[in-house]
Amino acid sequence: MFKQIFALLSLAIVPAALIAEEPSLTVHLKNRPTAKVSPTLYGLMTEEINFSYDGGLYPELVRDRTIGRGWQALAHWTIVQRGNSAVEVSADEHAGPSAALPRSLKVKVTAATEAEPAGVQNDGFWGMAVRPHAIYTGSFYAKADSADLPVTVALMNDQTGAIAASATVSGVGGDWKRYTFTLKTGDIAASADNHLQLTLPRPATIWFGLVSLFPPTYHDRPFGNRVDLMEKLAAMRPQFLRLPGGNYLEGDHIPERFEWKKTIGPWIDRPTHPSPWHYRSSDGMGLLEFLEWCEDLKIEPVLAVYAGYSMAQEHVEPGSALEPYIQDALDEIEYVTGDANTKWGAERARNGHPAPFPLHYVEIGNEDFFDRSGSYDGRYAQYYREIKQKYPGLQLIATAPIKSMKPDVLDEHYYMSAEQSFADAGHYDKTDRNGPRIFVGEWATREGEPTPNLQAALGDAAWMTGMERNSDIVIMASYAPLFVNVNPGGMQWETDLIGYNALTSYGSPSYWAQVMFANHLGTEVVASTLANAGPRIYTSVTRDAQQRRLYIKIVNATSEVKRFNIALDGASTAQHEARLITLSGKSPNATNSITHPDAVAPVEHAIRVSGAAFEHSFEPYSINVIDLPY
Ligand code: AHR
Repeated sequence: MFKQIFALLSLAIVPAALIAEEPSLTVHLKNRPTAKVSPTLYGLMTEEINFSYDGGLYPELVRDRTIGRGWQALAHWTIVQRGNSAVEVSADEHAGPSAALPRSLKVKVTAATEAEPAGVQNDGFWGMAVRPHAIYTGSFYAKADSADLPVTVALMNDQTGAIAASATVSGVGGDWKRYTFTLKTGDIAASADNHLQLTLPRPATIWFGLVSLFPPTYHDRPFGNRVDLMEKLAAMRPQFLRLPGGNYLEGDHIPERFEWKKTIGPWIDRPTHPSPWHYRSSDGMGLLEFLEWCEDLKIEPVLAVYAGYSMAQEHVEPGSALEPYIQDALDEIEYVTGDANTKWGAERARNGHPAPFPLHYVEIGNEDFFDRSGSYDGRYAQYYREIKQKYPGLQLIATAPIKSMKPDVLDEHYYMSAEQSFADAGHYDKTDRNGPRIFVGEWATREGEPTPNLQAALGDAAWMTGMERNSDIVIMASYAPLFVNVNPGGMQWETDLIGYNALTSYGSPSYWAQVMFANHLGTEVVASTLANAGPRIYTSVTRDAQQRRLYIKIVNATSEVKRFNIALDGASTAQHEARLITLSGKSPNATNSITHPDAVAPVEHAIRVSGAAFEHSFEPYSINVIDLPY
């Protein structure tokens, strides 16, 4: 995972006491650990923002696969005409493949032949990624005004018009019906510059609904997630996924919330919905897909349920008005955890997943401190009473401080500049241990766009040392936002962890900081003393008591090399083979991008530590993890 440099570094054995004024870190291995490390400390948070799902993790290649209300401008559906062929394309507001999808794409071909077909094409999410020797699974709903129509579907290169793969669906006609096809590519070059064409060889009018084309997916799950992005998530060793948002849970208005019941079952029954991030969600990433995403990464959901507040200051008063929303949340929990004998567990089984999912945390709303009505206290208390009655084992997360009771867990959000992250790295050092446990459900150092630069990663790493040291109280944390499609118009929120286009993706320096920390978490916080370090040096020391490995994290956010004396008080004096993983760059502005994905990436050195004290110089602007046996 980390670039490896196998040269052994020579580490002088230096008695700690002899070194004056140099920064020193004394690790008190003999002392009792200062805290247990929360095993669930690092996780994921996402929502439909920055084309995270549509145009991102949910790898549907067809953009606007359904036709929404009032879509006069079919921005991603354009005509295909060759030679003398002729066609008109429009949105038909009165003909759709299902009650949930009452509109369709009307394609009226007035002139066409086998040699000069006509039809429609879709340009995807800033292109469509096509790879060699791959199988693409396609389908569409259609009806036509003539019987037995052949429809040719083809993946074609935007510039050359070369056909990467094509197939003909025959017998289209009559009333609405679903048709499937498969496109297989051969020995072609991988590229994002492709589109999908659907053409007819003769005049006819055809209506298309829900046109879909899926590439191969992570672990070959049918209609699962994009492979490269899931691999990047897996490398972060997350323990949970907070879903489905964020503002995406709440919506701007109450009818625009994430209504989970409208996101399950066949796609044809999902009406799609407007998201607060200014584009419509296909809801292909519905509740079950979120849960299967967790299953693919072997992690647990942290389920955020809608709690009666939407962002345009719309709220539902606690009391009887709130009851239907609470019932919806209870149904949702049953959908996740109930066995197939329960009403909603049976629904999940019908949707293709008979086994229940594990669930320990339910979050009541999102950022309810923005609700100026003051209703959250009452709303949280009502959800708490009713959920605990049915599910006493669940931990219920509040999204704003609650005065009338102590919530199980409090979700706190921090979006910071690097200066703020540095200054506040000790934020939780003095937090009251009698208060609720803390979930830092959204946090990030926001410097650089679309993805964070090294300065942001240094701020993040400083902040993470503080969360780790205090992970008796900080039980979970998730960086946000996770994803951004880097194409023009793809980003609604600057500074996102992982960037991508249709074909490739990259991790930002902050991504690598997360990978380094989460892969060296440990089970106990080891007492340590930092001396003579000066400003902008941050440390955290943990150990894995079972594996008997010590993890020393040192963040040097200064512009100077810092030579450290590290004393391992209580370590054996034997020689140890250790690993040093370093993320650094020439300047705090150093960053990664779609064209330079690995400019800032961790490098691993093998090092030999002899005895109980050693010196090492840490590069300017560097994040370091020393991993050694003890
Ligand atoms: O992460 C982006 C947004 O920031 C989230 O949707 C919201 O919860 C927060 O305000």
